[in-house]
Amino acid sequence: MVAFFEERCVIMNKISSGVTGLDEILGGGIPERSIMLLTGTCGAGKTIMGLQFLLASNEPGIYVSFEEEEDGIRETAKIFGWDIAKREAAGKFRILKYDPFRLEDILEVIENNIREIGAKRVVFDSVAALGIYLKEASELRRMILQIDRIMKKNKCTTVIVSEIIPGSSSLSRFGVEEFVSDGVIVLDNINVKGEYKRAVTVWKLRGVNHSRRMHPYNITSRGIIIDPKNVFVK
Ligand SMILES: Nc1ncnc2c1ncn2[C@@H]1O[C@H](COP(=O)(O)OP(=O)(O)OP(=O)(O)O)[C@@H](O)[C@H]1O
Ligand SMILES: [Mg+2]
Repeated sequence: MVAFFEERCVIMNKISSGVTGLDEILGGGIPERSIMLLTGTCGAGKTIMGLQFLLASNEPGIYVSFEEEEDGIRETAKIFGWDIAKREAAGKFRILKYDPFRLEDILEVIENNIREIGAKRVVFDSVAALGIYLKEASELRRMILQIDRIMKKNKCTTVIVSEIIPGSSSLSRFGVEEFVSDGVIVLDNINVKGEYKRAVTVWKLRGVNHSRRMHPYNITSRGIIIDPKNVFVK
């Protein structure tokens, strides 16, 4: 069993998350072709981290937005000095905006876009917005599994964003997202003596010996920076 586990770790190709300190707490980076859930409360930095993941590498990437408009995403990126328009012009980046209540054939359209630019990284922000328009959580589970199948078929590494309602003990909006993902990154906003502090945890990562600690992080003018050496203390 141990030998099998070690072998999986050795053959697993890792790619950089692009977020300072995150690769270290992930145990070496994001496993290539995995589907990662990025979850947290509102304003925790999920969109910023999603953009950082896409813009970290020179490989083509696609940002699928179910909420924010294209221009809003470009503006957010600009604040941190990331030039999306330049990448778009070079045919290496696309923002696909969909209304979550009109989902027919979107996966087919997304797959066509992946093929057209040879995308290797894809972010879905957020699947929680998708779930609101589906009748049952099981439909969202099926949809995420479908996303995972298509992304793996196209050799893409994927980040799906969900959300945590403050005070809830669930890791996601619909309670299914964390089970169908290969890994889960949780962004917390914690009240410490009247001041909200940020902490990130790698909740799970299949086949990897990752950090189990809560690590402090900050949103800075250069994006999200995690301190992998320190543990968050309340
Ligand atoms: N220039 C900046 N410097 C420091 N912090 C910033 C800066 N710009 C934004 N922030 C922080 O980032 C937060 C927004 O980040 P982001 O949009 O990624 O959050 P989110 O988790 O995607 O939120 P939502 O759930 O609303 O989609 C702001 O609420 C603010 O706290
Ligand atoms: Mg967001």
